[in-house]
Amino acid sequence: MVLLLAGCAKQTLPQEKLTAHDAEINAIIAQLSLDEKVQMLHSKTNMSSEGVPRLGIQDIKYCDGPFGIREEGVPNGFMSAGWTTDSATYFPTGSALAATWSEDLAYQYGVGMGTEARRRGKDIILGPAVNIQRLPVGGRTYEYFSEDPVLAAALGLSYVKGVQDAGTAACIKHFALNNQEMNRGSVNVVVDERTMREIYLKPFEVMVKEGGAMAVMPAYNKVNGFYCSENEHLLNEILRGEWGFKGMTVSDWGGTHSTMGAALHGLDVQMTGDTYLGPALIDSVKAGKVPESVVDDKVREILRVRYAVEAIPADKCNLETASTPESRATAYEVAKRSVVLLKNNGGVLPIKKDVKKIAVIGRNATALTQSGGMGAGVKSPYEVTPLQGLQNRAPEGVEITYAPAYKDYMGMFAFWRGPEFLKEHPEVAAEIDAPADPKMLEEALALAADADLVLYFFGTNKSIETEGSDRENIDLPLGQEAIAEAIAKVNPNIVGVMISGGPCDISGIDKIIPAMVQGWWNGLEGGNALADVLFGNVAPSGKLPFTFPVKLADSPAYALDNYPQKADVEGDLFGNMYRQDVQGQRRRGPVRYPATAYYSEGPLVGYRWFDTKSIPVMYAFGHGLSYVDFSYSDMKANKAKYGGKDVIKVKFKLGNTGSMPAEEVAQLYVRRLDGNVSWPVKELKAFRRVSLDAGQTKVVTLEIPVSELRYWNEQTNDWALESGTLELLLGGASDDIRLTTTVKI
Ligand code: BGC
Repeated sequence: MVLLLAGCAKQTLPQEKLTAHDAEINAIIAQLSLDEKVQMLHSKTNMSSEGVPRLGIQDIKYCDGPFGIREEGVPNGFMSAGWTTDSATYFPTGSALAATWSEDLAYQYGVGMGTEARRRGKDIILGPAVNIQRLPVGGRTYEYFSEDPVLAAALGLSYVKGVQDAGTAACIKHFALNNQEMNRGSVNVVVDERTMREIYLKPFEVMVKEGGAMAVMPAYNKVNGFYCSENEHLLNEILRGEWGFKGMTVSDWGGTHSTMGAALHGLDVQMTGDTYLGPALIDSVKAGKVPESVVDDKVREILRVRYAVEAIPADKCNLETASTPESRATAYEVAKRSVVLLKNNGGVLPIKKDVKKIAVIGRNATALTQSGGMGAGVKSPYEVTPLQGLQNRAPEGVEITYAPAYKDYMGMFAFWRGPEFLKEHPEVAAEIDAPADPKMLEEALALAADADLVLYFFGTNKSIETEGSDRENIDLPLGQEAIAEAIAKVNPNIVGVMISGGPCDISGIDKIIPAMVQGWWNGLEGGNALADVLFGNVAPSGKLPFTFPVKLADSPAYALDNYPQKADVEGDLFGNMYRQDVQGQRRRGPVRYPATAYYSEGPLVGYRWFDTKSIPVMYAFGHGLSYVDFSYSDMKANKAKYGGKDVIKVKFKLGNTGSMPAEEVAQLYVRRLDGNVSWPVKELKAFRRVSLDAGQTKVVTLEIPVSELRYWNEQTNDWALESGTLELLLGGASDDIRLTTTVKI
């Protein structure tokens, strides 16, 4: 929070740091020709835009992505440049980081990303990606953080601070409402202002105002009729006008759509190409359609970032791998705290000392997850798979066997390679719902029958969950449920490990498997971290950042028939073609009836929907068990009634009643008990990860600034506070509320 201290001089707002060199920058702008200025407003290469060579002002170098500095591409595209010094730490992906609910770790993660960007000579990281996970099928759920804006905002803020403290600029993305990949390049999101402000813009607002994010990437889609890259309301009125953004905006790659629209309504840099903010812009200025001062404003915003971020000389970067031991340690710490223990019937976990033979079943135990999924991939110096992690951590005398049990599924990546590819690669399935191969199943069952314990790895992969297309459903692919059923018949002692970035329908498998963890795509140390949790070297402490619905049809956009939109499906910018073909829809060609995504569920996204509509879920938002129990007691708010500028402080005791150290994420939700404004049944407002020794109790305080309880009033077009009675709900998950108290505001 930015606070003005009573009686003290006004503190510098994070965005104002960017304006420190404005006088100098204005003097430079005065020396530039129109051509030179416009040269800065579009790509130079696929991952750079031009500085001012004549004045020694360096180009700006961009890099993906949210969870590791992407390998070097060729100058004009994404193909690998074939370097040997461009590997970088593969950090756990977005939803995994979010499952830690740890601002400290998000900060360290950001520092790691920012540091490695410097080592690669990059100025701007295209991340973090903080869009709200509106759809369980969303192709980029794994990149995004959460279905909840408070969690996404807190982690995004720490990430941005970490990146920028390490000397690199963060380009927060995708601004805004890029919540589906299907038709992402053309879909028009129709959303009411209140929902937009309270849910979808919240993380961006916090990262800009409190984090001083230096760059913003307008998204591909339209919002209320206008492309994000030329959306006056989003870019000029809200971002710059209300939030005071002083940095630069960079369109998503291929997401610029016109010269006048982009120039006049808030875009600084066209990525990529110069069709709109190139020669056509020069013509528009000369024709008097775009004032040259608008071009100057764009150059000023770009130069502010250039001044804030030191350019790295070519001989000082890319000398060896960018990956540092510190980043790898952070990646491990994040992974360790992200693993979510979904259930543990009969205390199957941690793995008992008398287990001497473990059958690891399921291809996901060995699948690499550092690349794939399109933009957000990393060339990692190494990646410890779950199987390797288990081998690394297995106590003396424990034997581990492995069988893949199901085939690989490569979606469009196999499709593009043609039918021959499938013939040459029998391990690759042609269809996502291909039933288990009898031979592979037989091999797996033999190992399962012969083991004391089965660790069954299932879930998706990065061909199934990927940028550019959404999943058609959240069913477990490749016959994974039937395989679990068959295994249970030969050995009921099974632990399920789901490896995925987003939720799957696990209602069937849940009936078969007594203990289950969510293992994510967890970075280069992911296998070691997972094994440490399974063997009980550490207690699990991850909490779900999104809801696992019982079935897809229960989730809001499906229940209200707002998704998938019944419109022509466009062959998308990069990836959508194959998936849409499978859906039996048209692949390419003009979009006759562009899709409109009506967000008619309003703010009832994720648990807000399930709770308010009393729809049962499989695993709730915030859920995650441990190997110990936690006690919550003595909850007390510091006052009974609060004013608009107050901070509600809730104190309580949190105890670890178990016999090993453990960490708990205490969560504080708010419910309105009266008033005229409609509210979701409960909303997360504060949380804290607390580490506790065996038997230890700590006094913990959670804070909610009353200003964070305001709603967006569409009549006055402003934030407003509704006074009334609030119930404060404290617990370890949205469905595990242990204590409550009421206060008035
Ligand atoms: C993605 C962005 C990414 C950009 C550059 C786009 O397709 O949507 O998230 O940063 O490509 O790779």
